[in-house]
Amino acid sequence: MILFRDLNKSFGPKDVLTGFSLEVPDGETTVVIGYSGTGKSVALKHVVGLLQPDSGGVEVDGNVVHDLDRDGLVALRSMIGFVFQFAALFDSMTVRENISLGLKRQEVPEREIELRVQESLALVDMEGTEDRYPIELSGGMRKRVGIARAIALKPKYILYDEPTSGLDPVTAAVINQLMVRAREKLGVTGLVVTHDMNSAFTVGDRIAMLYRGSIRQVGSVEQIQRTHDPVVRQFIEGRPEAAADAEGLVTQVVS
Ligand SMILES: Nc1ncnc2c1ncn2[C@@H]1O[C@H](COP(=O)(O)OP(=O)(O)O)[C@@H](O)[C@H]1O
Ligand SMILES: [Mg+2]
Repeated sequence: MILFRDLNKSFGPKDVLTGFSLEVPDGETTVVIGYSGTGKSVALKHVVGLLQPDSGGVEVDGNVVHDLDRDGLVALRSMIGFVFQFAALFDSMTVRENISLGLKRQEVPEREIELRVQESLALVDMEGTEDRYPIELSGGMRKRVGIARAIALKPKYILYDEPTSGLDPVTAAVINQLMVRAREKLGVTGLVVTHDMNSAFTVGDRIAMLYRGSIRQVGSVEQIQRTHDPVVRQFIEGRPEAAADAEGLVTQVVS
């Protein structure tokens, strides 16, 4: 289980997370929704020790992430796949080399690496692309390779940062389907951050809304769809006044 416990994080004068607490139960997909710039990526980075909390923290299977030593962090990262917002593939490496990178670091034997490359590409319906370079692939295909790279590590957890952002609706639907498949076929526990409500409702077992530094509401998809909380309602319905409020702008509707 991943547990955010009263996490606080500021950058200079800017308080980003203020008492962020959330439980991510095993075997499910938990989705954190929220406006751009509210700290969703910041929260994810704490899970793998890419950021240090000011106070509070994150526990993964009972281990406090910011207390782990170097070896502890390596072990932690070997069980957490991270699908970055912009695929983050190395352009100078083939698909195979991109997927192999983390496996080599874990000293997985060559033959096993090739097997994992094939298996993970098959799972994202990208068989036969192992010798291609990222530049030869569409945005959606690069995203799929990013997911294959995470899956190849056989992680217990996968963190997805805005997995559908910048994709057309059909390609986004494919990515959503792959996230559901990762949970169903591999039993991966997912933590997704997104502002795409369609994606949240499709892949989520539970949805939590991050608002002004902490979790405003958390519940099942059905509970969130039926919420009476005005802030959550405005967000899931995509009404403009809420967006203006969240960005701290003067509410102004241009017609
Ligand atoms: N390394 C950093 N240094 C300074 N400010 C940061 C850093 N990372 C994020 N921020 C700020 O924290 C806020 C939340 O960012 P982020 O988590 O990326 O938002 P989002 O919810 O869109 O993922 C933003 O105002 C961003 O500018
Ligand atoms: Mg982000």
